[in-house]
Amino acid sequence: MDGDSLSQRASALSRRRFLVVLGGATATAAGCGNGNPMTDGGDASPPEDATPGDAPEDTAAEDTPPGDGGGMCMGLGNDIMAVGDLAQGQFVLIDRGTIKLIMARDARGIYCLSARCTHTGCIVPAHDAAGFSSCPCHFSRFDRDGRVQPGSRAVRDLPNFLVTLCNNRIYVNRGEEVPLGTRVPLP
Ligand code: FES
Repeated sequence: MDGDSLSQRASALSRRRFLVVLGGATATAAGCGNGNPMTDGGDASPPEDATPGDAPEDTAAEDTPPGDGGGMCMGLGNDIMAVGDLAQGQFVLIDRGTIKLIMARDARGIYCLSARCTHTGCIVPAHDAAGFSSCPCHFSRFDRDGRVQPGSRAVRDLPNFLVTLCNNRIYVNRGEEVPLGTRVPLP
């Protein structure tokens, strides 16, 4: 293969990769909510077979279709959203199939909490301006780091999942928890 052919092939591959990235971004945007379970289509009710203290956990760590066309970000978990779509001070409810998460960003970086209440598994909304999320089922409250507040029926904090930034996108590994308060600083 001569130099011109190699160059044409590289250009075609580059175009294909760009289209794959665009497709991934569209699918992700469709899965992002505004933090309101009433308008997000979020299921705020507890699972039918749920019992107190038996909340289902976000433990699946399967990969979503990779936003980078199967390259360097494979194996990092679920491709959740673009870094640029999460503003500082923002909390966003992600309600996409079995993926129920709250993505957040503050001055120290990006992090991710499970959106499943640790009481019986209702989906909690994104945090309010004061930095609290109140479960719609029995009103357990969690602070911005996921710490359960006194007086709540839940007794456990919201799990904080491992976040990795790759190719300007946010990946979450729901099979791996990190200490509350962990942040991923922006480069
Ligand atoms: S499910 Fe009971 S307080 Fe959240």
